[in-house]
Amino acid sequence: MTTGEAQPYLLGLRLRGRRVVVIGGGAVAARRVPALLDAGADVLVISPGVTGSLEDLALAGQIRWERRRYAAGDCAGAWLVCACASDPGANAAAAAEAEAERIWCVRADDAGASPAWTPASGAAGDVRVGVLSGDPQHSAGIRDAVIGGLRAGTLGARRGRGRRPGVALVGGGPGDPGLITVRGRQLLAEADVVVADRLAPRSLLDELPPDVEIIDAAKIPYGRAMAQERINASLIAHARAGRFVVRLKGGDPYVFGRGAEEVLACLRAGVPVTVVPGVTSAVAVPAAAGVPVTHRGVAQEFHVVSVHVPPDDERSAVDWAALGAATGTIVLLMATARLEAVADALIRHGRAGNTPAAVIANGTLPTQRTILATLDTVAPRVFEERMGPPAVVVIGDVVNVAAEVAELMRGMQPAAPGGAGAGPGRFALAADPGSQAERWTDRA
Ligand SMILES: C[S@@+](CC[C@H](N)C(=O)[O-])C[C@H]1O[C@@H](n2cnc3c(N)ncnc32)[C@H](O)[C@@H]1O
Repeated sequence: MTTGEAQPYLLGLRLRGRRVVVIGGGAVAARRVPALLDAGADVLVISPGVTGSLEDLALAGQIRWERRRYAAGDCAGAWLVCACASDPGANAAAAAEAEAERIWCVRADDAGASPAWTPASGAAGDVRVGVLSGDPQHSAGIRDAVIGGLRAGTLGARRGRGRRPGVALVGGGPGDPGLITVRGRQLLAEADVVVADRLAPRSLLDELPPDVEIIDAAKIPYGRAMAQERINASLIAHARAGRFVVRLKGGDPYVFGRGAEEVLACLRAGVPVTVVPGVTSAVAVPAAAGVPVTHRGVAQEFHVVSVHVPPDDERSAVDWAALGAATGTIVLLMATARLEAVADALIRHGRAGNTPAAVIANGTLPTQRTILATLDTVAPRVFEERMGPPAVVVIGDVVNVAAEVAELMRGMQPAAPGGAGAGPGRFALAADPGSQAERWTDRA
């Protein structure tokens, strides 16, 4: 901002039900309109053409679109005008009309002539951040730093605000700390107490301030049922004591995670609960090894099965006959110790012994390992390779798609950090003597 100029006065506009006229339908309008809709504005777009995303909003009835150029009188009834047409003359005319009517106008093409400026803005939970510095790039950089800090908890989201009540059940994703959701990460940053599972992204716990109490749920003693009761009791006790508790779970809380039991226990005790879905290992771990659980023309369905009890166990509620007869992908969790019985059941009920199979252990983590086999060979291969939990087993022709992807990736240059093929999910194919199948050697 130029020294000597009056500083702009920052406001938060509450636009619910208020008309905002947007002149122009190009890239700038396409960026502005979603934020205006989030604020509840009644958006009228005036432009001979619009981007595909704006057209979709118009077709869905979320905005009104008048397919024409700006005309005098278009600002009538508006509380705000966004002049972002490609024609500077139209923007100037709209801005002049808005000025005459004492309506605030933002001109996208000429900041110097614009009575109002749009700050670089963003949100971290219920905190909105707006930055004006006179240089849009600089403002965006500061905005990103502040939002990033709030989301990661490095900017003290826990201080100076109303405390969140109760418990948040947060799906932490399959293990890579980058695979928790933004909301999950942010709630974690606000926690007073974190009750963490063994398969939750535990590296995130190191980043928490020292006064956050971390309870290792994996270490809670007694049998499985008793341990669950004690976890529930611990969530309730801390929440009742006025602390904000994050229950950090692996994957998604509702996929074989007993999440609903914890929600019900809290609600029955009168403790409010928020559930933040997570990226489930059932899909993400195969993906990290290049295996798509569906693929056009190969698999139109996938079945996710918990094998915490084997097929012939009276407690098993899985229809193995139907799975054997089906053609879709089968994704098995908690299966490594019972793979022989599973393969037998599937082959007995119709799956071919040479159906491709992949086993991915420690998926998305630097220690990720993958083996490729067939239904016939997968159990002995897992034994030979000493593959233990946590692992996801994928059975079906989609495994061949991953091999094709790997083959294409093999000759490629190392990807840029964060780019396709980067991270712990990267893999390369290597010949595996003594086996018909190839073996994937994962690279951290
Ligand atoms: C009790 S289930 C919980 C699943 C979790 N709620 C989810 O949505 O991913 C635990 C099983 O998930 C699978 N699993 C979870 N994280 C994994 C990982 N990083 N790599 C491989 N398998 C994983 C394993 O089969 C493990 O035994």
